[in-house]
Amino acid sequence: MVARRPVPVPLIDPHARRVEDLRVSITDRCNFRCTYCMPAEGMAWLPRRELLTYEEIARVARVCVERFGFRSVRITGGEPLVRAHVTRLIAMLAGLGVDLALTTNGVKLPELAHDLRAAGLRRVNVSLDSLRRETFLALTRRDELDRVLAGIDAALDAGLLPVKVNAVVIRGVNDDEIVDLAAYARDKGVGLRFIEYMPLDAEQGWTREQVVPAAEILERLDAVFPIEPAAGGGPEPAERYRYRDGAGEVGVIASVTAPFCGNCDRVRLTAEGRFRTCLFALEEFDLRAELRAGAGLDAPDLDDRLAAAIAGAVGTKWAGHRIGGEDFVRPARSMSQIGG
Ligand code: 5AD
Ligand code: SF4
Repeated sequence: MVARRPVPVPLIDPHARRVEDLRVSITDRCNFRCTYCMPAEGMAWLPRRELLTYEEIARVARVCVERFGFRSVRITGGEPLVRAHVTRLIAMLAGLGVDLALTTNGVKLPELAHDLRAAGLRRVNVSLDSLRRETFLALTRRDELDRVLAGIDAALDAGLLPVKVNAVVIRGVNDDEIVDLAAYARDKGVGLRFIEYMPLDAEQGWTREQVVPAAEILERLDAVFPIEPAAGGGPEPAERYRYRDGAGEVGVIASVTAPFCGNCDRVRLTAEGRFRTCLFALEEFDLRAELRAGAGLDAPDLDDRLAAAIAGAVGTKWAGHRIGGEDFVRPARSMSQIGG
């Protein structure tokens, strides 16, 4: 008997945005301790049984693609490359035929980039906030700048293209490196996106004064490498600019000063199987309970229940976050526990 393939029905949220990008955190663990994300020590990790298995993750992703026509799946963490046998998951997801990407701190890319490509990963985003050894160490609390730079080279060599670098800018820490990071990215032929520092650090040390507004980042760039707006308007959070000399593009994610929510197409699955419709959502939907009910992955109605839970959750998706507002409420989780 040939199973009938459901025809995908687009998932539209209450603000008329089509949802088609799934971000999956596969672990809350990390081999770095970036100050803007984690405390130096004392993170309590999820026990193994709490994490979704690769089979469970792949099932949720398949339902998103088959039922709702999702076009992209991004693997995040914590640091996704610290979870064992991550290439096995990539191979399981590769068959979905979506834009399959991964966000990483890059430190394990020298050994993993080629295997990830061979398993079917299309591209990577690598976090790199500083090109100075001491600043890198102060930010990540790990002396691994050289290995991350080698990881970016390995990703380029493996063809995980386009390689994009994410840099969180924090005033007084690395804001004097905006031009240097741009020069590095132009030289390497990698994409670069500057991200405004968001209140998602575990230590709750975030202050508004530490946020370098996107407008200021662009001004400082333009003074050295003249830029102009690039055609865009897609769902990605970055506002894109083109270097006037033709040396590629640069983006800024004005997460705080000009929220990117207007055409947001994203939803998130945490490592323990909670479905979130926004980084800043205060509500979560427990898909793991569905995945483990009754006969588990063999339950004949599992896809229907997952699809109903996902559609129900998307029905609560907010128009946008309100970091800028007086009434902003921080989510209880930090970035590594949500998935970037
Ligand atoms: N503000 C902005 N970006 C953050 N990231 C992690 N924490 C924060 C924060 N508080 C980014 C990292 C990485 C991605 C996973 O999320 O730079 O690129
Ligand atoms: Fe790890 Fe990424 Fe958080 Fe840094 S930002 S501690 S690399 S999860």
